[in-house]
Parts: sequence; C-alpha cells; structure tokens
Amino acid sequence: MLQDIERVLISEEEIKKRTRELGAQISKDYEGKELVVIGILKGASLFTSDLFRSITIPAELDFMRISSYGASTKSTGVHRVLLDLDYTLDGRHVLIVEDIVDTGLTIKFLLEYLGQRGPSSLKVATLLDKPTRRKVDVPIHYRGFEVPDEFVCGCGLDYAEKYRNLRDIVILKPEVYSGK
Ligand code: PRP
Repeated sequence: MLQDIERVLISEEEIKKRTRELGAQISKDYEGKELVVIGILKGASLFTSDLFRSITIPAELDFMRISSYGASTKSTGVHRVLLDLDYTLDGRHVLIVEDIVDTGLTIKFLLEYLGQRGPSSLKVATLLDKPTRRKVDVPIHYRGFEVPDEFVCGCGLDYAEKYRNLRDIVILKPEVYSGK
C-alpha cells in the first residue's frame, strides 16, 4: 500500500488537530441543543468517529449510506438511500458529516432528503472540501481542509475500496489509478 503513495497531503497530526478544533467549535455552537450527528458511510465513518469523540456536549450518533444510482450518478445527482434513519428528526439539530464534498451532489441530495423530516437545523461538516469540482452550490458549515483537484485517499477515502485505512490524507501515484 505504501508504495502506491506519491506524497502525504495532510498528515495524521494535522487531521487530529483540526478535528479537535472542529469538535470544540461544534460543542460551543450546539451547547444546550439536541444534536444528532449523522455520518455518511462508508467514507466518513472514520472522520465521524474522531469528530464525535471531540464533541464534548451530549450528542447522538447515527449513520446513513447513500449510493449513486447507476454508473453515472456522480454526474446525474440521482441517489438512493441504502441505510436510512428509522425515526423523524422533528425538533432535532442535525449535523451531516462527510469525508469529502466534491461535486456537492451527495450533500445537496441529503439536505433535501433530511430537510423533509422536520429538523430544527441541518448543517454540514466535512473533513475535505474540493471546491474546484463543485457542480452545485452547497453550504459547508464546518470544513477541515480545502484540497486541490488531486486524487486523494486515506482517512476513510478510498480508491477502488483500498487505502481507507491510511492515517494521512495522501495523493496516489498516477499509475495506481490510471492502470499503467
Ligand atoms: C464519496 C464521499 C461523499 C461523496 C462526495 O462517497 O464519501 O459521500 O462521494 O461526492 P460528491 O460531492 O461528488 O457527491 P462515495 O460515493 O465514493 O462512497 P463511499 O463513501 O462509500 O466511498
């Protein structure tokens, strides 16, 4: 696995530090409110776990899994829900946690989908933001790092289901994903 890495973009230490900062900010912003943290599987599972442990106020944890519909979802923005919440969000303050916001289509879908369940507020936290790839304008309330349009992996982000367990955010060697 290590031989496939071109370079480290964001180190584990930087990620830990930034996650603690975001957790502190979230704890302050949601003080006295009923917070539900929803991680989006699979990519955000690791960041969600770390961010959740950095939150110092009472909070609930849940997960959803979303899939792109067909091979071209990423461009069509059509999604289906593979794992859903089995309760309403009436009166709850909901924080969606993602590993990366790329085109923004997944977050757009989730904001609309969860917005129909009556939450008092609905916000977005993401470890990585790749704004150069954005197709739709979406709000990001808590952002770990902005990243360039490079093939990033690690800390939950995969390439063909590999590399999620790398502790740093890395850029892969082009030959890894171009198949050369
Ligand atoms: C990734 C990521 C986000 C989404 C972002 O998930 O975890 O959910 O893509 O892309 P977008 O902004 O262009 O919609 P992916 O579909 O790769 O699934 P995974 O999390 O299971 O790896």
